[in-house]
Amino acid sequence: MKRIGVLTSGGDSPGMNAAVRAAVRTGLSMGMEVFGIERGYEGLLDGEIEKMEWHSVGDILQRGGTILRTARSERFRTGEGQRHAVGILETFGIEGLVIIGGDGSLHGGLELDSRGITVMGVPGTIDNDLAYTDYTIGFDTAVNTVLSMISNLRDTASAHERTTIVEVMGRHCGDIALYAGLAGGADVILVPEVEPDINMVCRRVLRGQQSGKLHSIIVKAEGVDISSAELATIVEERTGRETRSVVPGYIQRGGTPSGRDRLLASVMSAKAVQLLYDDEPSKAVGINGSEIVAYDLAEALKMKREFRKDLYDIAETLA
Ligand code: F6P
Repeated sequence: MKRIGVLTSGGDSPGMNAAVRAAVRTGLSMGMEVFGIERGYEGLLDGEIEKMEWHSVGDILQRGGTILRTARSERFRTGEGQRHAVGILETFGIEGLVIIGGDGSLHGGLELDSRGITVMGVPGTIDNDLAYTDYTIGFDTAVNTVLSMISNLRDTASAHERTTIVEVMGRHCGDIALYAGLAGGADVILVPEVEPDINMVCRRVLRGQQSGKLHSIIVKAEGVDISSAELATIVEERTGRETRSVVPGYIQRGGTPSGRDRLLASVMSAKAVQLLYDDEPSKAVGINGSEIVAYDLAEALKMKREFRKDLYDIAETLA
């Protein structure tokens, strides 16, 4: 394969730039021409494609966001959009793609694969919701960002003797809440995978109060079936302690990537380019334990995610 493209798609995640850098530099070092496609599938449809050089990806390793920019493309969801995208790639002579993004973005890659374009998927999303890989790029940074917020919130919650609800990202997958809640010593963790038990939440907060705790922290994923404001009202009424909710939102998606995310991005993306160079069929690159793995793209996307009940149980015991 002589000409490859790289794009970032869907919600950005810290470490995407490290993945772009690794794709470009690995490709160039193997003698390939590498093209950067801007704004994900949207930019592909509009032919926003630039040839990348070694220096094009200089000084980005440590930056959050993505220099290629990203988008959620409605146009690409249609058969007509996908045919058009393939036409654009053919015009540029691009035979293979490195697609850095989450579940929706990799499914988009599968559509291109069925139309003859080889696609290597690199998991870039803060959600950690892809079943085939233990970790996705950006998740570690997001967890650390939430941990730093929990730390600040605990100070002020203690000073005012309040309960604080922190609503973190994750519509279907509660991993950010689970990992940050466990590592941040939350009193309660609420995730979409476990039915919320409001009585239990209130009991746990009351128990803390009665044992002399000055504050309680509840970490709730956005996908849990009760709003933070509603939960705050109920908890305040039933515990008699002032309860506030905080939604950090996009703060979790930005920021300098952690060392772990930079490393993961660099290694996975280099692997993706190596697979293109070797003329392998479309695959999804991931990590299993400490091993970098690559599965058939369609098979990888069919895998079912398992909730880390073991971590949830430990968090429950330690709360
Ligand atoms: O998939 C990443 C993510 O940040 C989710 O956690 C969140 O629910 C969603 O994207 C928000 O999407 P948008 O930026 O399009 O509103």
